[in-house]
Amino acid sequence: MDFKKIVCENFKTEAMTSDELYASLMPTQDCKNGDVCLPCFRFAKALRKSPAAIAEDFKDQVNTGGAVEKCEVAGGYLNFFLNKAYITRAVLDECAQKGDTYAPLSRLNKTICIDYSSINIAKPFHIGHLLTTVIGGSLYRVYKYLGYDVVGINHLGDWGTQFGKLIVAYKKWGDDEDIEKRKVRALLDLYVRFHKEAEKDESLNDEGRYWFKQIEDGNPEALAIFEKFKEITLKEVAKVYDKLGVKFDSYAGESFYNDKMQPIIDELQNKGLLTESEGAKVVDLEEWGMPPCLIVKKDGATLYATRDLAAAKYRHDTYDFDKCLYVVAYQQNLHFKQVFKVLELLGYDWADRLVHVPFGMVSLEGSTLSTREGKVVFLDDVLDTAVAKVGDVMEQKQGKRDEETAKKVGVGAVIFYALSSARIKDLVFSYDKALSFEGETGPYLQYAHARCRSVIAKAGEVKGKFSAGALDSAEAYEVVKLLNAFDQTVREAAEKYEPSVISHYLITLAKAYNKFYIDNRIVTDDNDVTFTRLALTKAVAAALKNGLKLILIDAVDKM
Ligand code: ARG
Repeated sequence: MDFKKIVCENFKTEAMTSDELYASLMPTQDCKNGDVCLPCFRFAKALRKSPAAIAEDFKDQVNTGGAVEKCEVAGGYLNFFLNKAYITRAVLDECAQKGDTYAPLSRLNKTICIDYSSINIAKPFHIGHLLTTVIGGSLYRVYKYLGYDVVGINHLGDWGTQFGKLIVAYKKWGDDEDIEKRKVRALLDLYVRFHKEAEKDESLNDEGRYWFKQIEDGNPEALAIFEKFKEITLKEVAKVYDKLGVKFDSYAGESFYNDKMQPIIDELQNKGLLTESEGAKVVDLEEWGMPPCLIVKKDGATLYATRDLAAAKYRHDTYDFDKCLYVVAYQQNLHFKQVFKVLELLGYDWADRLVHVPFGMVSLEGSTLSTREGKVVFLDDVLDTAVAKVGDVMEQKQGKRDEETAKKVGVGAVIFYALSSARIKDLVFSYDKALSFEGETGPYLQYAHARCRSVIAKAGEVKGKFSAGALDSAEAYEVVKLLNAFDQTVREAAEKYEPSVISHYLITLAKAYNKFYIDNRIVTDDNDVTFTRLALTKAVAAALKNGLKLILIDAVDKM
């Protein structure tokens, strides 16, 4: 239901076209002022009247008594009150049609690439990766729902001198059995040990460089070890991705661009963009207030930025994207500004379709994270702990554990906590806060949904017809309006690259329904009333379930 459209259908004026009217209408902030309002200030000059007088004039031109119940002038605003019974019925009809599982909106023929999670090989998948993974994973679903073709890309960090170091450590101290057992944790220990020993013995760093060169030159032994590290890491993260419900269409990582950088470097050279600086090749960005973008090091090695230039071009040529998002921490703000600027200087008109979607840092109740020292909180452990804690509570309260439900509630709680505030804010992860049933949490929403389902299940099949009187209250109308705002909310989340818009919406909806539920019995002696209130309850359950799905959470029916 498009409230603005309803107003346009009932209000024709010579002062503006229907399209202009549509664009000028706004939702009201406060329900006391109706559903939609028209600010009349901007007409004052042309019509040479006060905004309030203009609103009065317009008022006479509105067709009231039908879908628009009445109109009121308040200051320079004309407020439209829609017919609540009409809207309620229409919205609930629409919800009934959408059913329990919302189909995606119609296909747009637009492609959006989302670079997210983008883990580093042989490094732990730690709590610091939580935000990129769930923000990106959620945006993936959000854009799919809105009808986009989405390409999820895991730009693997699978290139760099550290892999030479790891090979040295592996050859010296590696234990295949241990690696088989402890996977990335064993690799992490090797990495930490390398740095400790290299402090005492400088020559280890030279060996590391030597072995990285072997990878670059395609030495079969070096490649085999490196491939093994890659396989171990990917297998392990796959488990976590599975738990979080995120997926990727491409795992083309940094090494994929090894043979795709030279053309870009040549192009930079030909367009006169490269300058020499202490033996290195850089693009000078002083004019734009940025340090130079390093393209080729003195020893001929390419850099992270060089790979991102090649990757952007490759993605453009391969996917012809309308937008390419990079869900990467704000620490890399400068990196992306530089890369986007260099692409613009190369004359690529699509450079303005690249968007860095930054987010804050994650920590676990005060502990700091450092891979080098091996102080790391594995994301997988955080998820398992959350699930175990939920299981414990279930056992205490209900005397038994339901593993499936505990998984959904526990993992969902972690995800919701990560997606509940604006992404740019730093996040201090707390189990107590995430798992609480009070406040704006995942478990609160899960409970709200499960309660709706249980009301529906208990009521069983009810034969009746829509009764406007059953939902004739400000509380019910608030719920109806929120139900109607679902798609608009998802659009807003996409426009702002901000899944928290959906989290916030779901909390608001759950609270609004709760208010209604407290004041109204759902199952009554009057079948029509029961039928109508159940329709509202079903619609709320579906909106919660489908909204949760967009933020990667599986709703549970019982808890
Ligand atoms: N692997 C990188 C890191 O952990 C993130 C990569 C982000 N994507 C990109 N195209 N640069 O910092």
